[in-house]
Amino acid sequence: MEKPVAGKCHKEVWFGILVSFVLCFTILCFDYSTSMLGVYNGVNLLVRRVHPYITRDSCYGRYIYVHDDLPAKFNDDLLKNCQNLTTGSKPKNSDTQNMCRYIVNLGLGPEIEEPEGVLANESWFITNPYLLEVIFHNKMKQYKCLTNNSNQASAIYVPSYVGLDASLHLWDFNLTVRDYSGKDLVGWLSGKPEWKKMWGRDHFMVAGRTSWDFRRQKENSSDWGTNLRVLPESMNMSMLSVEGSLWKNDFAIPYPTNFHPANDSDVVQWQNRVRSQKRPFLFTFVGAPRPDMKDSIRGKLIDQCQASSNCKFLHCGSSGINCNNPVTVMRVFESSVFCLQPPGDSHTRRSTFDSFLAGCIPVFFHPATAYTQYLWHLPENHTKYSVFIPVKEVEDLKEGIIEKTLLGISKHEELAMREEVIRLIPNLVYADPRSRLETEDAFDLAVQGILGRIENVREVIRERKDPSIGFGDEDNFKFTFPETPE
Ligand SMILES: *[C@@H]1O[C@H](CO)[C@@H](O)[C@H](O)[C@H]1NC(C)=O
Ligand SMILES: *[C@@H]1O[C@H](CO)[C@@H](O)[C@H](O)[C@H]1NC(C)=O
Ligand SMILES: *[C@@H]1O[C@H](CO)[C@@H](O)[C@H](O)[C@H]1NC(C)=O
Ligand SMILES: *[C@@H]1O[C@H](CO)[C@@H](O)[C@H](O)[C@H]1NC(C)=O
Ligand SMILES: *[C@@H]1O[C@H](CO)[C@@H](O)[C@H](O)[C@H]1NC(C)=O
Ligand SMILES: *[C@@H]1O[C@H](CO)[C@@H](O)[C@H](O)[C@H]1NC(C)=O
Ligand SMILES: *[C@@H]1O[C@H](CO)[C@@H](O)[C@H](O)[C@H]1NC(C)=O
Ligand SMILES: *[C@@H]1O[C@H](CO)[C@@H](O)[C@H](O)[C@H]1NC(C)=O
Repeated sequence: MEKPVAGKCHKEVWFGILVSFVLCFTILCFDYSTSMLGVYNGVNLLVRRVHPYITRDSCYGRYIYVHDDLPAKFNDDLLKNCQNLTTGSKPKNSDTQNMCRYIVNLGLGPEIEEPEGVLANESWFITNPYLLEVIFHNKMKQYKCLTNNSNQASAIYVPSYVGLDASLHLWDFNLTVRDYSGKDLVGWLSGKPEWKKMWGRDHFMVAGRTSWDFRRQKENSSDWGTNLRVLPESMNMSMLSVEGSLWKNDFAIPYPTNFHPANDSDVVQWQNRVRSQKRPFLFTFVGAPRPDMKDSIRGKLIDQCQASSNCKFLHCGSSGINCNNPVTVMRVFESSVFCLQPPGDSHTRRSTFDSFLAGCIPVFFHPATAYTQYLWHLPENHTKYSVFIPVKEVEDLKEGIIEKTLLGISKHEELAMREEVIRLIPNLVYADPRSRLETEDAFDLAVQGILGRIENVREVIRERKDPSIGFGDEDNFKFTFPETPE
């Protein structure tokens, strides 16, 4: 920052006055908080403030205040006790692996030592998707427009690891135990001075689990999830997670993959590599059947794959096939033109993002697997980057329909789609939090998305309308099957 010039140089003073006129004008136009005009009391002060103001302007509307004072029990302590955190979809017990090896490298996990020519030699990690909340927090620490002044902030980020926290008690039959921590968290937040400014509507948090895990509606121990997101405070807040629920204040952002580029050339090199890949298989399915889910299309989908010489099926979890190893999955995706992405336990799949990374055109069967979810990250026109085979009921998946549809796509269309898939790669990865890229990554787009959303709420308040209307309502669009495809 410049030192005060105290009448030393006339030129600078006049320049300061000129700039201040322009700034005052801009500031008034933008309805900047009036308290800020207080600094314009003297010319000396003015000149001194020129630089900060110009700098601040590039962040105007993008400032984020982080609740760094959040008690450690909501974030850091969970990592300290990583031996108690489950890595999978079952509760942690003494025999299962714990989260400790995955929290290294700011949540990216250990670097992959044997890429086997399938992955790049660097920037690939064994990333546990549940750690999205940790990766996001670490990326936020590098965000360009942080502020310690909550009055200046356009959004307030709550760096709690709600998913990791929930995973400690999700399977507990005692609802008091299961819900305790969520209640504790919103109690803390609503007691802070920042809360009252917009009653939480400028607050957001991030979860590495689906939103459904926090949306238990009833006080019935047999129902799934905690009640965090149905608490009155939560209804005023937004949550970003890997899968949005039916409610409008839940937003989906990409699952983290294993690629966390450290610079822009890492990304371009990877894009070039997948563009030139030979793809002997027309289509691929990597996953496991869901014999216990009667509505699952996976059984029929696997039958169709196995019946076709154009399809490669990789049965995850069968003997010797470890789909937690990215090399196993990416080897197949990189050698296929299309990758089938049917719903699994929930509508979305992390695998969707692996197929983008591999330059493999995704084939979706339900709109909620991607189209109605990742609105900030994927183009609105989904025919540009994917194939949609609508399957509302299992019976809709007619024999041979997958192969027939895919064989009907021209080479020209295929190339155009793959090029679009490859173009999207930088937007869908979480770059290494230790570096900063020129291209916008998934984090940047998520931040843009939430800032836009909060700005819309502010606009409603400025128009003196009730911001609670529509904020956290049910959204019938997200999971509804279209009457006519397209
Ligand atoms: C970790 O789990 C063990 C066994 O369930 C329990 O005794 C211990 O209190 C837990 N530690 C923490 C810090 O939660
Ligand atoms: C990656 O590492 C392997 C083994 O160390 C080496 O043979 C190969 O040339 C490296 N590839 C690149 C692109 O650096
Ligand atoms: C906020 O305050 C902390 C502690 O005083 C300081 O370390 C940090 O750099 C400040 N951040 C910004 C964006 O001013
Ligand atoms: C549930 O846990 C709470 C807190 O540990 C305890 O007070 C309560 O008795 C438990 N309820 C049941 C039904 O076990
Ligand atoms: C709780 O849910 C289960 C399973 O849906 C149901 O059988 C049971 O009757 C419910 N209990 C109460 C008290 O509503
Ligand atoms: C949620 O926002 C409304 C104003 O829109 C406010 O009246 C209400 O008290 C807020 N809820 C909580 C728990 O702060
Ligand atoms: C980009 O990052 C990779 C991996 O960390 C590194 O090997 C490479 O030298 C970097 N390239 C540039 C241009 O900085
Ligand atoms: C969507 O993209 C496809 C393929 O590029 C194109 O043919 C179609 O016209 C686009 N639709 C709209 C509504 O832009």
